[in-house]
Amino acid sequence: MSQTLAFDVYGTLIDTSGVVQELTDLMGDLAPRFSQRWREKQLEYSFRRGLMQAYQDFSVCTEEALVYVCRELSVPLSEQQMKQLLASYRKLPAFPDAHQALPQLQALGHKMYAFSNGLALDVETLLLHAGVDHYFMDIISADEIRTFKPDPAIYHHFMKRSETPAKHCWLISGNPFDLLGAAAVGFRTAWIRRNPALPFDPWGVEPDLTSSSLTELEHAAGLHQ
Ligand code: LAC
Repeated sequence: MSQTLAFDVYGTLIDTSGVVQELTDLMGDLAPRFSQRWREKQLEYSFRRGLMQAYQDFSVCTEEALVYVCRELSVPLSEQQMKQLLASYRKLPAFPDAHQALPQLQALGHKMYAFSNGLALDVETLLLHAGVDHYFMDIISADEIRTFKPDPAIYHHFMKRSETPAKHCWLISGNPFDLLGAAAVGFRTAWIRRNPALPFDPWGVEPDLTSSSLTELEHAAGLHQ
């Protein structure tokens, strides 16, 4: 039976470490750590803004995280260099397995959505640039209700927009916090475990499926029931 698949974007379809090469040109060996901290801080800012009910869109979290990490790691980037990095962040690459898996999952008849904390326009630009935009029926952004995952409201918003009850919604995500948020409202969940060294959060709930890439999903029987 076909399902409604909500694909997380950053870290699931799109590789946020895609800026590492550009960072390497700016700061050498520090680049992987800088990229990781930038992502961690971006997410932390979205969580904190959600809790404080002090919403600013995700691109603001990204920009403020960049400024913070420059200070934290003592990397003095010019305004122009930061602008250039933020522009590159709008053109991050898709993970290679997305190109292979998305057409296969679409051919199985699933209703597929991009579901992100990012602004719809930013997500559209990313997906277009990566050449994977045409697999999705729509982009559903947390910005539509001015909050961030894992606020339960955003998963309810997804159900409303996609006109799908929770039991037929699958969240496909590389981000454990997102999977726990979706499971809490009754979605089924598939964890794309891109880094085998990272454990799942020990909150007493496990993902329904775990796979190392999007490609394996096509063969996951659970997804097609
Ligand atoms: C997103 C972030 C959470 O795309 O990765 O929603």
